[in-house]
Amino acid sequence: MDVKVGFVQTSPMLGEVEKNVESALLLASSKEADLLVFPELFNTGYLFLSKDDLAKVAEPIPNGPTTERLMKFASEHSVSVVAGIAERDGRAFYNSAVIISSDGDYMGKYRKLHLFSTEKLVFEPGNLGLQVFDLGKIRVGVMICFDWIFPEVARVLSLKGAHLIAHPANLVLPYAQTAMLARSIENRVFTITANRIGCEERGGKKLCFTGKSQITSPDMKVLTRASEDLMEVGVVSIDPREAENKNITELNNLWEDRRPKEYYILTR
Ligand code: ACM
Repeated sequence: MDVKVGFVQTSPMLGEVEKNVESALLLASSKEADLLVFPELFNTGYLFLSKDDLAKVAEPIPNGPTTERLMKFASEHSVSVVAGIAERDGRAFYNSAVIISSDGDYMGKYRKLHLFSTEKLVFEPGNLGLQVFDLGKIRVGVMICFDWIFPEVARVLSLKGAHLIAHPANLVLPYAQTAMLARSIENRVFTITANRIGCEERGGKKLCFTGKSQITSPDMKVLTRASEDLMEVGVVSIDPREAENKNITELNNLWEDRRPKEYYILTR
């Protein structure tokens, strides 16, 4: 069964929500796909200096303009979407991802569990757990950016039945693209890292984002990888059933060979 999955690598301008969303969707509409993953905070940009700063652009999910626009896009193009959005819920802010089906239905949201650096000053850590969404042709687990450095995240999503891990990102360290290859082979799943490009400079701080969005396979191949400095869409055809085979050799199965009693320290 062929499923076309892809990333949309964007270059958002801080605070320019409508422009960011429309330019990302224009780019996204250049290729046909069954599933597209957009970067972390793709609608707002990244470098918020305070909660007041973030409050100007954060939106409720699902009843906010970006989610509603993505739902329309998804139904018009028959494409499922995973996209990173700054979420406001009452007085709390979350670094979230919204999940939308190819009919344009809201499926749910994920709130980033592991906040990176000064994100801790403006966002609350996620409180919705790790979830896998059945998008018809494929089961998709969702994590956001810095979650990559905790292998437990991809493990839990894979044990919950994900064929593919959607990974909206705003990466600034140089490690994740390589580490995601390990996440793929150690769980035998596909991954899509949708990263952004460009730099943001504010409050004496400058961050440059590393691009190189990519799709990896259960046998640890890079199926496609973007440049580090262009806005791009990358789409490949995959067979999700490949991720259901957890055999590494004739005598080794990733799930059956685990020794969970020896791992109890992981949950302390
Ligand atoms: C990150 O989690 N945005 C590095």
